[in-house]
Amino acid sequence: MSQRTYLMLKPDAVANRHIGEIIARFERVGLVIERLELAQVTPEQAAANYAEHEGKPFYEGLIAYITSGPVVKMVVSGPDAVAIARKLMGATNPKEAAPGTIRGDFGLVMDANVIHGSDSPESAAREIGIFFPT
Ligand code: RTP
Ligand code: MG
Repeated sequence: MSQRTYLMLKPDAVANRHIGEIIARFERVGLVIERLELAQVTPEQAAANYAEHEGKPFYEGLIAYITSGPVVKMVVSGPDAVAIARKLMGATNPKEAAPGTIRGDFGLVMDANVIHGSDSPESAAREIGIFFPT
């Protein structure tokens, strides 16, 4: 069944000039780019997106990082888009992410792990509402 997912190339991916290579991986498997925008995440959007992590030791650093520079926001669709995108992304910590995955190939540390992807269709709907409010 076709799904939508929200993906975001984090500030390190943009700063390191990896936008094209990363987006190409989603297109290569046949997922469809429905929306695409380069923008700065606002503090309000960051807090809404990461509400589940509020109070955790890494929360303040995560908010500072995700608002530190431009990101690429995307809505991507296709069969099982949420799970397929997470598979292409690899494990959250680049140290554990397999070679061939986006975090395994473009990341080194958890604090700058290249990309965000929704973890369920429900999260996707919520996150698309946060980052593409119109
Ligand atoms: P994401 O939401 O970014 O797609 O990543 P995820 O589902 O794989 O990981 P999640 O548990 O939702 O964590 C969100 C982001 O917070 C940062 N983090 N740092 N230092 C730490 O222990 C730690 N844990 C999480 C990462 O940037 C992670 O992507
Ligand atoms: Mg998550």
